[in-house]
Amino acid sequence: MPNGRTDHPVAIITGAGSGIGRAAAVALARAGCALVLVGRRREALSQTAALCASAGGVEVIGADVADEPQVRGVIARAVERFGRIDALINNAGYAEVEPVERTTPELLERTFRVNAFAAAWAIHHAWPVFQRQHAASNGTRRVCIVNVTSMASIDPFPGFFAYGASKAAANLLAASAAKDGSAIGVRAFAVAPGATETPMLRSAFDEKALPRDQVLDPSRVGEVIAGCVLGRHDEWNGRVIPVLSDAHRPGYAEFLRANPPIPAQ
Ligand SMILES: NC(=O)c1ccc[n+]([C@@H]2O[C@H](COP(=O)([O-])OP(=O)(O)OC[C@H]3O[C@@H](n4cnc5c(N)ncnc54)[C@H](OP(=O)(O)O)[C@@H]3O)[C@@H](O)[C@H]2O)c1
Repeated sequence: MPNGRTDHPVAIITGAGSGIGRAAAVALARAGCALVLVGRRREALSQTAALCASAGGVEVIGADVADEPQVRGVIARAVERFGRIDALINNAGYAEVEPVERTTPELLERTFRVNAFAAAWAIHHAWPVFQRQHAASNGTRRVCIVNVTSMASIDPFPGFFAYGASKAAANLLAASAAKDGSAIGVRAFAVAPGATETPMLRSAFDEKALPRDQVLDPSRVGEVIAGCVLGRHDEWNGRVIPVLSDAHRPGYAEFLRANPPIPAQ
């Protein structure tokens, strides 16, 4: 494939070196997308790339999304390598469980940078690309943004003062992008998982607090993300999509009545 062009849909995935981001990469590779895998640990991203043999091309970018110039660089490199962007998956996340009195200004800033600002910066820098692509296609080209948020954005656990609020901001960024983007073919979703078996979950909760058989497999969340990109969940455009294990649904009964989850495929 010539450098700079591809006919495959191109998806940027931040936090693609593990957990939900890796699962989304595998699901999108299976659908034939070209992938831009982003994270700080290049080695972890290379391991994800090795699981994505059916992708239409893979670019690995070591970048810290808490740093705006690096996010701008990711968007520029994706366009340079593949010539287009069809999906932007803002998945990299930061979660520290701390009560209000121990939530320092530094913790607040780091949490909002990774979970909210990084998504906002990426959307902002990708927007002119989306506008150009839409104009060049005479208004037929559609793209997709997915912010991976959390059920903590609806109902935070104790200790999620910073995390829950930053994820709620990311929900609203998706809603705004869907509204502002309707004229240029942008669809935008907030995918809000409950507890999912990943390194992030286990850094905060042991199996006594959240038994393995009660939490989601990351592949379930990855499928929902890929479904958004592939146009399977367009009725959720601009909204929060809850993804919950059977064990955790009763705790969100009221929210789920208003926002029924997507059935597992
Ligand atoms: N697991 C859960 O129960 C759960 C529930 C609800 C929502 N979520 C959300 O799901 C998303 C994915 O998390 P996960 O559970 O899959 O955890 P994970 O396996 O720890 O993945 C998080 C990824 O984000 C990357 N990352 C973190 N900070 C970064 C930064 N500053 N710049 C670039 N990449 C960064 C990490 O890679 P590097 O360290 O290499 O940078 C890592 O691969 C997060 O947004 C999280 O908040 C998770």
